[in-house]
Amino acid sequence: MFSLYENLLRPLLFLQDPEKVHDTGVTVMRLIGNSKSLCALMTYWNLVRTQRPIQVLGLTFPNAIGLAAGMDKNGVCWRAGAAFGFGHVEIGTITAQKQPGNPRPRLFRYAKQRALVNRMGFNNDGAKAIASRLAKLQAYRGKRPIVLGINIGKSKLTPLEKAADDYVHSFRLLADYGDYFTINISSPNTPYLRELQKKRLLHDLLIPLLEIRKSRAHKLGQAPIPMLVKIAPDLTFRQIDAILDVILDLSFDGIVATNTTTQHALFSDTAIEKGGLSGKPLAKRSTEIVRYIHRATEGKLTIIGVGGIDDVTSASQKMDAGAQLVQIYTGFVYRGPSLPKTIAQGLAVRNEEWV
Ligand code: FNR
Repeated sequence: MFSLYENLLRPLLFLQDPEKVHDTGVTVMRLIGNSKSLCALMTYWNLVRTQRPIQVLGLTFPNAIGLAAGMDKNGVCWRAGAAFGFGHVEIGTITAQKQPGNPRPRLFRYAKQRALVNRMGFNNDGAKAIASRLAKLQAYRGKRPIVLGINIGKSKLTPLEKAADDYVHSFRLLADYGDYFTINISSPNTPYLRELQKKRLLHDLLIPLLEIRKSRAHKLGQAPIPMLVKIAPDLTFRQIDAILDVILDLSFDGIVATNTTTQHALFSDTAIEKGGLSGKPLAKRSTEIVRYIHRATEGKLTIIGVGGIDDVTSASQKMDAGAQLVQIYTGFVYRGPSLPKTIAQGLAVRNEEWV
């Protein structure tokens, strides 16, 4: 089928530097998000609501498809999410300290393989500035048009031993705004971050976060904010078992599987840029991990499946493997703004067949 985006707009956009195009995309989404009437009109047109809303993590999602972390790192354009058909948007990764990220160029396209490689390095405005931005946008929990996830990570300059303080600092500042939080311990572009996936370090990281969450919920008389951990696709099943031990032991709410991969062999044997690989070449491995976690936990853990989804079939594969929700990033870049609606419709049709 002829696609205006894929046949006309994308070839023009792809003549330009990938990060510039990304920034333009964020600006367009921000402008749409700022216009109440345009947003409402586009939401009416694009937001597919499943017959029975999806209840996951104690939250209600209009459909199963979300925008993955990394697109809206600074919480500036998430309000346009519903206008593009997303049932949820995950902003971030946000760190305690504002940081510039790695030197440019740091985002690369591999169009033939429908892939991206990035080594952005958590460029973001920092938790304090983003919290005040969200306050200005009145993004308080329960008062927003869309389910909002907030993804937090470790500042580059914070040593690993102090990682927990860093995450706690960000969580405290941002807790009023997120419906759920994702603890990112899997970006390949912050040195040593992935070490936090080791059993003891993960345990020591999650305990203080859970304590703060609990005392906050108690003080406000609210349910605790759901928290998920985002893991890498490069873990062995044994390493995943160790993570699951911690998560189940602490009654953590779920897992986002997966982040980008450093296994460039998944992609081709030609040398490619250093960084995390996303898109089509990641699809099979991330689905395998979703399936493994689902089986190992007998379906008890909430799983958000992400990695290489770019059509209804690849989204269905993640759901069949055990994901309750799915997210896209690279597929959105290659297939364009109509993809969330297409996937939401396809999944809704499929689910109704089951009923
Ligand atoms: C990402 N991703 C990402 N993830 C995360 O938890 N925090 C982040 O800041 C980022 N940043 C980021 C930047 C860019 C340019 C890309 C392409 C990706 C990872 C993303 O959320 C997702 O997990 C992977 O990209 C796999 O999904 P897709 O892209 O194959 O649909």
